[in-house]
Amino acid sequence: MPAVIRHAEPADIEAIKAIYDQSSVYANTLQLPYQPVANWQRLYNAGSGFYNLVAEVEGKVVGQLGLQVCQNPRRRHVAELGMGVAEDYQGQGIGSALLRSALELADQWLNIRRLELTVYSSNEVAVALYERFGFEVEAELSDFAFQYGKYVSALCMARINTAST
Ligand SMILES: CC(C)(COP(=O)(O)OP(=O)(O)OC[C@H]1O[C@@H](n2cnc3c(N)ncnc32)[C@H](O)[C@@H]1OP(=O)(O)O)[C@@H](O)C(=O)NCCC(=O)NCCS
Repeated sequence: MPAVIRHAEPADIEAIKAIYDQSSVYANTLQLPYQPVANWQRLYNAGSGFYNLVAEVEGKVVGQLGLQVCQNPRRRHVAELGMGVAEDYQGQGIGSALLRSALELADQWLNIRRLELTVYSSNEVAVALYERFGFEVEAELSDFAFQYGKYVSALCMARINTAST
């Protein structure tokens, strides 16, 4: 069944938390295990320039993508994104559907020229997904974060929308 993409509502917070409580999701993002729901409520209230998209399958929220538009006046053309899909639903096109919607929002409605993200160098699935949607690797950051007891490197990736003015 295809995913419905929509903006998150306050009632979705528990479902979003449940996605990021799964080890492959928190490990491959900058989340931690054992997070209180209050942390995710703060995300919902992140304020100006934050777009919190969710993917719903048969009434269940199974994926989330956050797009933050930079609030610095000289970087209003830049946005950063991060995403996660529940383990049982990975590899079924949910991440692609979320990314497609986020790019449409960024390109067609927000006039974002530069979309940027950071992804662990070892996260081949995510890197391949981002490349398929036009992101390019710009740099590698050594010992970027701590994961399963070790320092791990990350890639800076960006996509320039050359059609944006
Ligand atoms: C990265 C992630 C968001 C991708 O979401 P997804 O719903 O699995 O993505 P899609 O189903 O749209 O698939 C993306 C591609 O990766 C492939 N893929 C997905 N999961 C895979 C897996 N476990 N093993 C091998 N290939 C996989 C898909 O087949 C697809 O390739 P294709 O279009 O050539 O068939 C998801 O795997 C995830 O949440 N991972 C953990 C958190 C994370 O890494 N977040 C991103 C941090 S930057």
